[in-house]
Amino acid sequence: MARPADEGVVQAVKEAVDIVQVVGEVVNLRRTGANYLGLCPFHGEKTPSFTVSPARKFFHCFGCGESGDVLTFVMRHQNLPFWEALKQLAGRYHIPLPERELSHQEREADNRRQELYLVNQRAADLYHDLLLNDPRAALAREYLAKRRIPPEIITRFRLGYAPERWDFLSKALPDTPPELLVEAGLIVARDSGGGFYDRFRQRVLFPIINHSGRHLGFGGRALSDGQQPKYLNSPETAVFTKGRTLFGLFQAKEAIRRTGRAVVVEGNFDLISLVAAGIGEVVAPLGTALTPQHVRALKGYAGEVVLLFDGDAAGVKAALRAVPLFLSARLPARVVVLPDGHDPDTFINQYGPAELTTRLEAALSLPEFAVEQLVARHGLGLEGKGRILEELRPLVAAIDDKDLQRSLFISHFSRTLGLTPEQLGQALAGGLGLPPAPPVPAPALPRQGIKLTDSERHLLAFLVLYPACLDDFVEAGLLEVMASPAAFAIVEAMREAARQTPDGGAERLLDYLAGPEERDFVAAQLIDAPTNLPEREREAAEKIGWLLENRRKTRTRELTTRIKEAQLQNDQALVLELLTEKKKLSLGGQG
Ligand code: GTP
Ligand code: MN
Repeated sequence: MARPADEGVVQAVKEAVDIVQVVGEVVNLRRTGANYLGLCPFHGEKTPSFTVSPARKFFHCFGCGESGDVLTFVMRHQNLPFWEALKQLAGRYHIPLPERELSHQEREADNRRQELYLVNQRAADLYHDLLLNDPRAALAREYLAKRRIPPEIITRFRLGYAPERWDFLSKALPDTPPELLVEAGLIVARDSGGGFYDRFRQRVLFPIINHSGRHLGFGGRALSDGQQPKYLNSPETAVFTKGRTLFGLFQAKEAIRRTGRAVVVEGNFDLISLVAAGIGEVVAPLGTALTPQHVRALKGYAGEVVLLFDGDAAGVKAALRAVPLFLSARLPARVVVLPDGHDPDTFINQYGPAELTTRLEAALSLPEFAVEQLVARHGLGLEGKGRILEELRPLVAAIDDKDLQRSLFISHFSRTLGLTPEQLGQALAGGLGLPPAPPVPAPALPRQGIKLTDSERHLLAFLVLYPACLDDFVEAGLLEVMASPAAFAIVEAMREAARQTPDGGAERLLDYLAGPEERDFVAAQLIDAPTNLPEREREAAEKIGWLLENRRKTRTRELTTRIKEAQLQNDQALVLELLTEKKKLSLGGQG
């Protein structure tokens, strides 16, 4: 969750807001000691495991692992963006939000965006009208007819035509300031001699409309083969970002909601051909690979996505690249790759819509497709498996938040690869700094408690409450004691939290932990801690002493082993050297 730099306001809101009151309005909370307990609003449960700590101003659910501060709670519960949640709480508790100047600037920028939407919309009207009625658009109408695009599709997508003129728009919009048209990417300033010319000429235009119906720009298809480039899109502007925009989403929204799925194609013509064939739930990125923002946008409407790719190597590659995006967004996805040489548009025209529908129904799940492709490419020999593991690693690394997805994914792949899930988990965890895969649980079982040794538990319980001691502990040998993956993960998260938000409270650690067991452990320490922590210097010193002593003992043991070995090999010089070292160690040298 990206937060704005204005931590001051955020802190002020968190300070002022009573988290128990805010949560208590939507969750029935009852007091248990210093904390409150209720039924979790984020997952279905019959016995309460949703805990709110007023002292530390955070919540944690021991059932589903959700946790965070009051802002997180409002965002998740009302599905609001960060700023909206902040505004709502600040308003309620009378905390002034950032000063006038900023909101003035913001208002200016907002006004400019409205102007850009409007000018794009006016241009779309002009181009659309021209395509329908103007004699100059006869060739374009012929072109669309030849490609079997029916009139109702032309209307539905407000397709247009830009004539073969350099000054069509400036003439048609004489009252619009040229700067605005330039900023919208509709006209371009000439390099020399002043003046402007139209960006789109002699092209069929696809207006790009966002989910709420605002006009962001255009995609323009050349009319003839000789005309380059084949597609010319609006440049990125204050309102148009390719990586965030999906062509067709506005028209597809209802169908996506109704069918529960979104079909993703690569080309504009693919999209309108599908719609013409009665498959309305279709969107297309604008000539770029799918981005996380695209996937997030889809997740707002669809329960499932079907990727419909061209039957060429690029299509397969695009499908593989999409795997981590969908896994990390937890949006189920399936894949159809068309026969070589076909795109959805040519496929429908040759085989008909029914055949395409059949293929959409039979689509393989994206992870399954990925394994199939990898096995086909590398084989299941020893070397092939090695290669497959290499390619799987980044896919699995993308699943970061909750363990269950990763476990399912690993158990799925392990079967195909003839490994146990544990073996595969370990193989994938090796190298590349991937946190070790969790033990693979049966999905239905409740999650197991954290696995820590007594010393790890003891030291971590202390450090969670006193993160400031971390450096001293590390210096004294903390990492030599932390052997369990969970302990390692917690220490790593502590270091990251200290780096990123050095002034934050102890509960911020939860933002840096992915594993539910680790989150439970940390939350439990925080929740059970007394409200006013006494200074614990003595305990810290004691633990540091223990760490140093532990290091000394370990080194002494090592030296003893090495001395025995040297004696066996009759290496008197080495024996002497090691004995001296051992003596120094026992005399209190600790290094
Ligand atoms: P046709 O059927 O050949 O008319 O095109 P299409 O809609 O099937 O598109 P294609 O599969 O060739 O390309 C997929 C998408 O990539 C297009 O819809 C465009 O958004 C984008 N694209 C294709 N060619 C170009 C190009 O030359 N320049 C840019 N910027 N984008 C392109
Ligand atoms: Mn095509």
